[in-house]
Amino acid sequence: MLFNSLLGQYAFITGGSKGIGFQISQELASRGCRITIIARSALQCQRSVEYLNKKYPIPKQKHNFLNYDLLKTSEVCMRIAKVYPEYKNANILVNCAGMTQKSLLLNTREQDIVNIYILNLIAPAILSRFFARSMIRQKHKNANILNISSMLAERYLPGTTAYSSSKMGLVRLTTTMSKEFMRHDNQLIRVNAILPGLINGYRYGKRCQLY
Ligand SMILES: NC(=O)c1ccc[n+]([C@@H]2O[C@H](COP(=O)([O-])OP(=O)(O)OC[C@H]3O[C@@H](n4cnc5c(N)ncnc54)[C@H](OP(=O)(O)O)[C@@H]3O)[C@@H](O)[C@H]2O)c1
Repeated sequence: MLFNSLLGQYAFITGGSKGIGFQISQELASRGCRITIIARSALQCQRSVEYLNKKYPIPKQKHNFLNYDLLKTSEVCMRIAKVYPEYKNANILVNCAGMTQKSLLLNTREQDIVNIYILNLIAPAILSRFFARSMIRQKHKNANILNISSMLAERYLPGTTAYSSSKMGLVRLTTTMSKEFMRHDNQLIRVNAILPGLINGYRYGKRCQLY
């Protein structure tokens, strides 16, 4: 029996194919949780899922992925329901996919501003609503939503106007959802956010060499 076993639990992880999201995927899979990754690159998803299935196999099921661009928010729920109708068994949602900004507002393209808010804030709100509805309907006992925000939600750094404000919005989305989902027909959904600082060497250092 694993310590902190998540055997029989099921997590959808946006941005779970790389970086922080992939680390979370591995951590949950190592405890026996089934993982579905959502990200754009099918190739990267495939590599990450193969790694999970090889290193952290789960009985009778497989980790898998949905390659999807979360900027297309209007169709995401329909797509999940179509490809993975068993999404109803999911008791964990991790909203990790995010887009950064490295330019002063005056120099940031309008479309980039829109995309940052869609990916960092609107997609998590839409997915949280979708999964929370099914978590409540299915009366999951251990239902969790985890949002990956940023330390910049609480700090001022020029060149991050849209990014930091989207991450601040994500924190408020988290705290408000946690109140709304606290008790619903005696069901509880835990909603939390993590606010990481800059992860030095994450991409280029040793921890990046996952395969
Ligand atoms: N790294 C840091 O220092 C740091 C610090 C604080 C907060 N954060 C936050 O932590 C989260 C993860 O950051 P990271 O550095 O680990 O990112 P990363 O290595 O660039 O990975 C981003 C993940 O999101 C996916 N993704 C990106 N755009 C997407 C889209 N439009 N639709 C679907 N999936 C998409 C990527 O896959 P595809 O490219 O294949 O779509 C990938 O799986 C982000 O929300 C970021 O804001 C990071």
